[in-house]
Amino acid sequence: MTRIVYLNGTLLPFEEAKLPIMDRGFLFADGVYEVTTVIGGKLVDFASHCARLRRSAGEIGIAVPVDDARLLAIHRDLVARNALDEGTVYLQLTRGAAERDFLAPEGLEPTLLMFTQAKAVLANPAAETGIAVASVPDLRWERRDIKSVMLLAQVLAKRAAHEAGAQDAWMVEPDGMVTEGASSTAWIVTQDGRLVTRAKSHKTLPGCTGLALEALIAETDLRLEHRPFPLDEAFAAAEAFNTSASAFVLPVVTVNGRAIGKGVPGPVTKRLRDLYLAFARDTAV
Ligand SMILES: Cc1ncc(COP(=O)(O)O)c(C=O)c1O
Repeated sequence: MTRIVYLNGTLLPFEEAKLPIMDRGFLFADGVYEVTTVIGGKLVDFASHCARLRRSAGEIGIAVPVDDARLLAIHRDLVARNALDEGTVYLQLTRGAAERDFLAPEGLEPTLLMFTQAKAVLANPAAETGIAVASVPDLRWERRDIKSVMLLAQVLAKRAAHEAGAQDAWMVEPDGMVTEGASSTAWIVTQDGRLVTRAKSHKTLPGCTGLALEALIAETDLRLEHRPFPLDEAFAAAEAFNTSASAFVLPVVTVNGRAIGKGVPGPVTKRLRDLYLAFARDTAV
């Protein structure tokens, strides 16, 4: 089966999709992206990803060239044409292609690219075992709330985590506070059962999964605190977990080789994963 991708208004075979070498996404990381998960051939939390795309693009002055209904239609076409049951749709929007200059010419046509990636989402062994996390310095810029394609710091963070035998990195600021995972939102559960994650700010990406989970938590007896936490607080926590569109709620069982709580996925994390899974299934479009 030929893999079909979307590029600037057209669905076409993967091999035929070509971008100019002057694309500003390639030369300047002048663009933004989104990743939406697909389960059972349907898109999870799609409206939230659309809203974040528009916000990210707006913050750097790129106009999204299609409306939300068209975005949904393209996503659905891609899922259908690639017979995708489980996986992700990756979307990248750049300022477009022009002769290399820091200042882009007015009226440049943006580049809109989308492709699917098949992968098991629901049956994730890491959700059963939990993952190891390694801490790394947060080397990023001051507008981490924009989902920029400038991901070098995260690539280096993941490489360092991999070398340390961990599956993800938690990025830590010079003040000792954890900002977030290299591609996830970081959470802890205190010994007295409070959930702690950072409030929205320029310091972290507003995770769609975390946002949806917060609404689900509000319907439970669990207490949520929005504040930064240091690594030492994570070491003393009962549980820890990450949230992200492609892994939902993923237990973190060690940080820098130190067991969190009992060193196995905890009951609060499991409950939240189940809550999110039900939400994902019930609201996918
Ligand atoms: C830095 C960062 N934080 C948080 C997240 C989680 O966001 P979402 O739940 O929308 O996937 C991601 C996802 O890629 C990310 O890259």
